[in-house]
Amino acid sequence: MSTLTNKQIILGITGGIAAYKSAELARLLIDKGATVHVVMTTAAQEFITPLTMQALTGNPVHTTLLDPQAEAGMGHIQLARWADLILIAPASANFIARMTQGKGDDLLTTVCLASNAPVAIAPAMNQNMWQDAHTQRNLESLRADGKIIMGPADGPQACGDVGPGRMLEAAQIAQLAAEQFEKKGLSGKHVVINAGPTREAIDPVRYISNYSSGKMGYSLAEAAVEAGAKVTLISGPVNLAAPERVELISVISAEEMYQQSVKLAPNSDVFIASAAVADYRPVKVEPQKIKKQADVLQIQLTPNKDIVAAVAALDSKPFTVGFAAETQNLEDYAKKKLTQKKLDLIVANDVSKEDIGFNSDDNEVTLFWPSGQRSLDKASKRQLARQIIEFISQQLETTD
Ligand code: PMT
Repeated sequence: MSTLTNKQIILGITGGIAAYKSAELARLLIDKGATVHVVMTTAAQEFITPLTMQALTGNPVHTTLLDPQAEAGMGHIQLARWADLILIAPASANFIARMTQGKGDDLLTTVCLASNAPVAIAPAMNQNMWQDAHTQRNLESLRADGKIIMGPADGPQACGDVGPGRMLEAAQIAQLAAEQFEKKGLSGKHVVINAGPTREAIDPVRYISNYSSGKMGYSLAEAAVEAGAKVTLISGPVNLAAPERVELISVISAEEMYQQSVKLAPNSDVFIASAAVADYRPVKVEPQKIKKQADVLQIQLTPNKDIVAAVAALDSKPFTVGFAAETQNLEDYAKKKLTQKKLDLIVANDVSKEDIGFNSDDNEVTLFWPSGQRSLDKASKRQLARQIIEFISQQLETTD
């Protein structure tokens, strides 16, 4: 059973009939081991009294932003710093809208703004309000900012309607709150991933590149976030949106990708090189568009720096994962790259097949590491990314 032992939780209560469930929620959080401070909006106090919440938590209830007495005790900044988790239950449509706008016009919104703690909200409102486009857009935006949305449930409502918008039961919310603290495979780790193609300029209008879509690398970034990691994605030019909670650094050329990778890798725990980096670039980038003249145009190429090998050679090297894109002798070539580049793991894929590899939604890979290998069956890149990340976190556990 998940516990909240020694966890410090701010329970935010906003105005809605579901506020009566907040009393039970406070009790359950405390039963699980948490210390709870309650912050109530003015509207919340119309539904449940601060005295009830004070009696249940054993702590004074915080209700106003500009109260000199309260600020002399635990002021809003101290409250914000104190919290391991801010849990707002119920979260009304109005509160969600104010939070989306980044407002700090009462104590609860200000504490949310001032805190680095994760913020979870349990929406509760009439089903039409829940389904309203504004509310849905607001929730989408909060999700994108990394806020945790718990529920709502579907069913009969206090107003007589039936539909989505009921606050989850207190026990469900307490359980979800406890799960936020469960250690995930990569929690506390920083993962840097490069993805997509690079472009090597020939002249102002032309470049050399390849068919990489970035799908594999972006799926890895998403899976690493799911596993609890802080993720930085260094991406070549692709047509994909950055996954939620991923820091995106956009680059164009192999040299730019190299610079960003060697800058970020020394402070990371895991570096994954899924990018299809151009091995060569033109010796000279013509300042003007090359005119069509000769029958044969020769462009001299020079090798780019090997990014993943440079990362693996660092003194403070992260767990370094390369990819091998092969059209023949997959195992031989992948194993050679693993050894020559001094990698901890290489993910080999056959890029001669049209249904996997470059630019497809699926892939099929074999993992090689110094003491073993494992094949992963054909699956979507998202599913494979989860398996690869799971494997990496297991490897980290054995080396930690
Ligand atoms: O982007 P998608 O369309 O989803 O396609 C995914 C993919 C096929 C691009 C991906 O699965 C993949 O195989 N990526 C590696 C492509 C590649 O460049 O492989 P390689 O065998 O040429 O290089 C071996 C390793 O060295 C790779 O980790 C590569 O990132 C790295 N490398 C290569 C050259 C270079 N100058 N610097 C590098 O770091």
